[in-house]
Amino acid sequence: MGGDDKQAAIDTYGLEERTFPPPLEFVANALVTDRSLQEHADADHEDFWATQARELLTWQRDFDTVLEWDLPFAKWFIGGQLNVSENCLDRHVAAGRGDKVAYHWEGEPGDTRTITYAELLDEVQRFANVLKSLGVRKGDRVNIYMPMIPELPVAMLACARIGAPHSIVFGGFSSDSLADRINDAEAKVLVTADGGYRRGAAAGLKPHADVALTNTPSIEHVVVVRRTGQDVDMTEGRDHWYHELLADADPVCPPEPMESEDLLYLLYTSGTTAKPKGIMHTTGGYLTQVAFTHKYVFDLQADTDVYWCAADIGWVTGHSYIVYGPLANGATSVMYEGTPDTPGRDRWWDIIERYGVTILYCAPTAIRTFMKWGTAEPAKHDLGSLRLLGSVGEPINPEAWMWYREHIGGGQAPIVDTWWQTETGAIMISPLPGLTVTKPGSATFPLPGVGAEVVDDAGHKVELGGGYLTLTKPWPSMLRGIYGDPERYRDTYWSRFEGRYFAGDGAKLDDDGYLWLLGRVDDVMNVSGHRISTTEVESALVDHPKVAESAVVGAKDDTTGQAIVAFVTVKGDVTHSVELGEELRKHVATKIGPTARPKTVIFTDDLPKTRSGKIMRRLLRDVAEGRDLGDTTTLADPAVVEEIRRRATTAPQEE
Ligand code: WTA
Repeated sequence: MGGDDKQAAIDTYGLEERTFPPPLEFVANALVTDRSLQEHADADHEDFWATQARELLTWQRDFDTVLEWDLPFAKWFIGGQLNVSENCLDRHVAAGRGDKVAYHWEGEPGDTRTITYAELLDEVQRFANVLKSLGVRKGDRVNIYMPMIPELPVAMLACARIGAPHSIVFGGFSSDSLADRINDAEAKVLVTADGGYRRGAAAGLKPHADVALTNTPSIEHVVVVRRTGQDVDMTEGRDHWYHELLADADPVCPPEPMESEDLLYLLYTSGTTAKPKGIMHTTGGYLTQVAFTHKYVFDLQADTDVYWCAADIGWVTGHSYIVYGPLANGATSVMYEGTPDTPGRDRWWDIIERYGVTILYCAPTAIRTFMKWGTAEPAKHDLGSLRLLGSVGEPINPEAWMWYREHIGGGQAPIVDTWWQTETGAIMISPLPGLTVTKPGSATFPLPGVGAEVVDDAGHKVELGGGYLTLTKPWPSMLRGIYGDPERYRDTYWSRFEGRYFAGDGAKLDDDGYLWLLGRVDDVMNVSGHRISTTEVESALVDHPKVAESAVVGAKDDTTGQAIVAFVTVKGDVTHSVELGEELRKHVATKIGPTARPKTVIFTDDLPKTRSGKIMRRLLRDVAEGRDLGDTTTLADPAVVEEIRRRATTAPQEE
């Protein structure tokens, strides 16, 4: 970093002046409209979480110790016993809500299934007995590799019912990735499907699983859901059809009493090395915090809301906010199998209108895609049912935030920009929609019961300006470690700043104490000793009326350390030109400052993204620096890279 000690860890230039208080009609019925939760948490962190745990969950046996904290290892609600599937299903049915819809499921071809809590409980019990009949015992790992079909939450809850941790591998991952994860977890059973529907066609999953299964010695049985009806190979003795096993299964399976700290699931996430990390989440603390955040961040009115989290269950957002949070709270959710442009680019808006969705939770990358497709698509539908919007997964730039508010939220619905990670298990930083005055692009404040601080390079707390986001207190849904690798857990998260969890994200605090997430720290550029966030430059670019989307990287530069390279996608009817590139460079200089002016602008028709929609900046950096590309198997469309690489070599550069 630059020589000046007083320089903030990250220089930030962008200023967002707009503020939006919660609308009065929203406040009138909101769950949180004052600071009492915050005051409780500030007064007594442990008592606050203990109260949430007892209020939101049903325990088979109450806990006697709230927290045992031996940094970096936490245990929450010790002595307590509970079962996650019982909390998600049985207790709602027992309370007379068995006929309530748990999921309005919609397949991409347009087929639908309405699943009540009673029906879900029935199928979960049967499948739990199927797993038992295949030899799965408490503590055994079960791998799941499935499309977005109802059998996926069924499989998860069946695992939870018998105390078998699940490990879900997103259906878009390759055979190799699947095999690695199965082997790391030493899973005994794999649950998969013949395939699923994407972009109007049946995409096979079982064939990929079959390749993985040639190299996974721990797997004894494979259960296959028939979704597409395509031909698949079934290995005699190992592979079984889901519907056949289910038809013969005993309908009653009592929920296994689990210790609060028993493993609920593993979810693999990529780190800085090639080996993915198996993030461990346990039972009582995880369920407490996902239920708490799902209820209060989304202001859940369980009797009337129709909630839709448009993520894939293969990612943590789906685990926590399609399955465990909403079901623990007895919510009614929409679940959709396919892509947003099938059969038309208004599929989401059509779904929202037909089901009367009241809460939508999605990623900024989706929002920017919809911006690119134009306002005419959402305008075809009545989106008047929507009363709250959520964002997750990456920093949301103010222009996308405003577009979301105007064109999806009718200029009224509050937006909750929720910051969290696979590792945190649940939302950590977010507005409370009936209380917090929002600013477009800011995740605002840590939630009650969460300690978050920005620190400088030396680990000193920053009160204003940029730095590194850290978490200062243990939280119930925190990861309990990396499966099989406690040292890596300590090194990765707890060694950079003493006594603090290092999230790996840059953040800044503005004059009013609002938190602005600046992306991963490795996305922070250092140009001539000035640290500039890729996000801020991207945001300035997207602010230009001709730009649809952009990704900015810092490429090595002999003179300035790093040079800013901007990959830009223009709106549908705009043609790109050298002149437009120059105009965009000027625009950024005007919006942020001359140091933030990109050295190179590269126009591209699409940006390389992971299957969860994150822009692959590391790859773009490689392209920008003319290096060889690494592994591209997690790309949504590897062809994009070639295209970008071709253009990178022909783009004009500023002197
Ligand atoms: C980023 C997804 C800015 C961040 C839940 C984090 C965000 C990483 C936000 C975790 C947000 C997530 N604003 N950045 N609201 N939410 N991120 O593990 O860089 O897939 O570290 O969890 O996404 O990604 P993960």
